[in-house]
Amino acid sequence: MATRENEWAIEVEDLTVAYGEQPVLWDVDVKVPAGVKMAIVGPNGAGKSTLIKAILGLVPSVAGEVRLFGQPLQKRGHIAYVPQRATLDWDFPTDVLDVVTMGTYGQLGWFRRPGVEQRDRAIAALTQVGMEGYHRRPIAQLSGGQQQRVLLARALVQDAEVFMLDEPFQGVDAPTERAIVEVLDSLAEAGKTVVVVHHDLQTIPEYFDWVLLLNVRAIEYGPVADAFSEENLRLTFGGRVGVLSQADSLET
Ligand SMILES: Nc1ncnc2c1ncn2[C@@H]1O[C@H](COP(=O)(O)OP(=O)(O)OP(=O)(O)O)[C@@H](O)[C@H]1O
Ligand SMILES: [Mg+2]
Repeated sequence: MATRENEWAIEVEDLTVAYGEQPVLWDVDVKVPAGVKMAIVGPNGAGKSTLIKAILGLVPSVAGEVRLFGQPLQKRGHIAYVPQRATLDWDFPTDVLDVVTMGTYGQLGWFRRPGVEQRDRAIAALTQVGMEGYHRRPIAQLSGGQQQRVLLARALVQDAEVFMLDEPFQGVDAPTERAIVEVLDSLAEAGKTVVVVHHDLQTIPEYFDWVLLLNVRAIEYGPVADAFSEENLRLTFGGRVGVLSQADSLET
């Protein structure tokens, strides 16, 4: 693990978020060390997507504070965000290369057109995710796994320090899952901080070194070896989860 001593990529303090009257995150405290790969785990409706959006400042909070590398969000723009694929409009009339090139706009600023350099970065990112043959494919004609790879490429060109991905493995096949894991690993090796909403509890210890268990409240977070316990999973999911004991019984 490439954890950097005493450097927090993300600090969330006393964060409460509500849609209308209903609090969906309650008094959440989480600190994410720079350089970890952290999974966010919890049942549907637990507030996982909302937490990511709150960290990015995309939803207002009722209370609390978020800091990135010790500074308020406005001063630290370098987060790449991959939203939940299903929440996007894939009928939009544009092609793969343009969508990925658009990822560089954050550095260009308004009213500046992307040039050769931006285009080259987009092409390199598409190669990294195994989509080199799809530059001019309309995004409406992509499969779910291809959409996910394009979103990842779009995040890669942003040259960010922190990458937040909401369910990147949802509905993808084994080769695409492998490709995404490899990209996440290479980001971690480069010292980036990676935060991923993830539903497959079986693969948590293999794919991630940190975990946050969330169900409106932050139940626990920390190194997978400590925080990802049967007891914490029960507290997060209720009595319904026997993943760890199932895995044990498969091995014996
Ligand atoms: N824009 C919104 N307006 C009102 N309520 C919302 C809104 N977005 C989410 N919610 C509610 O907030 C709660 C948390 O939603 P959120 O999308 O953060 O959950 P999640 O953990 O990401 O779930 P999933 O695993 O299904 O993606 C849910 O009860 C949801 O219905
Ligand atoms: Mg979600």
